[in-house]
Amino acid sequence: MAKNRALQAAARTQQDEFYTQTGDIERELGYYWEHFYGKKILCNCDDPFESKFFEYFATRFHLPLRLAKLTATCYAGSPIAQQQISLFEEDTPAPMRTPYCATLTELRDFNGDGRTDMNDAIWAMKNIPGALRKLKGDGDFRSPECVELLEDADVVVTNPPFSLLREYIALLMRYNKKFVIVGNINAVTYKDIFPLFMQNRMWFGYGFMGGNARFSIPSAEDPSKYKDYNHETGLVKFRNCCWFTNLEIKKRREKIFLYRRYDPAKYPKYDNYDAIEVSRVDDIPCDYDGVMGVPITFLQRYNPEQFEIVAFRKGSDGKDLVYTYNDVGGGGQNYVPIRPNPNTAAA
Ligand SMILES: C[S@@+](CC[C@H](N)C(=O)[O-])C[C@H]1O[C@@H](n2cnc3c(N)ncnc32)[C@H](O)[C@@H]1O
Repeated sequence: MAKNRALQAAARTQQDEFYTQTGDIERELGYYWEHFYGKKILCNCDDPFESKFFEYFATRFHLPLRLAKLTATCYAGSPIAQQQISLFEEDTPAPMRTPYCATLTELRDFNGDGRTDMNDAIWAMKNIPGALRKLKGDGDFRSPECVELLEDADVVVTNPPFSLLREYIALLMRYNKKFVIVGNINAVTYKDIFPLFMQNRMWFGYGFMGGNARFSIPSAEDPSKYKDYNHETGLVKFRNCCWFTNLEIKKRREKIFLYRRYDPAKYPKYDNYDAIEVSRVDDIPCDYDGVMGVPITFLQRYNPEQFEIVAFRKGSDGKDLVYTYNDVGGGGQNYVPIRPNPNTAAA
């Protein structure tokens, strides 16, 4: 691969180098085991020697998940690629390293140390023909060889580059893939992502503990540019990260408990949409079957059996939902029109 292509890739990834922590991965993925059992898992933004996603699946490969296959591909631009171990004789210094693909189809105590763990995965990659191979291109998840791997996979699990989230999700949709991925909460407001929530093709997973996602960053990076960098842990904290999925989870079937009663004096009508505004999700009235504008945080608790999303977060004039009530204005860009699901409203 041409050296300047690798450098371009490195420049592009600079804002994307955040590595998910084992605790966060374990906390979320534990809810999805039934969907992983016996399946082909793909981590397509992951250096297998660095990624805790790869480690999570490798260490559970045989028991309890009995995976059929685990594949990881890393990206040429990643500054951490192959820092752990030199795999190919002609390795060059980062970021010009060779992007590669790791594929495990079985995992057992290969190294004979009495247990099956990540060391056996590393042993397999170094010793089993085909378990580790160079990619032809730069490892971009959109490249033909990576798309081929995507087509073969049952479930995709990773933290994709923040800057390419839209494209990443579009690709998953195009290939009709099941997924659990880390993303930015604000993505739900995007014109191309919101409809996926509305059509029940994607929803929120459980989320990071207390809403705090912590990531490690490459050691060469200057941490002072991050407001929430902890010098003791070496981790950067983000409050706007979440998990997106299209796998069925119990959370999605939990109903929001409604206890308020509709009172026209308390729920103003929008000026530009035939709906009332409910400014807190907990204030959704239990006896109102019309359309209501609710804060977009509602999507975190959205149960499609209980409600349906009626439209993108705009009024009939294409502008944000707004109201004027007793000369006071309200509403705004972060309100979404919903209504009780007419098919299950009585339930
Ligand atoms: C947010 S980091 C997450 C890394 C790892 N999945 C984890 O969670 O620890 C995103 C990763 O995607 C890689 N990346 C950036 N652009 C990419 C692309 N076009 N295709 C594949 N991977 C890419 C970056 O190098 C980076 O390592």
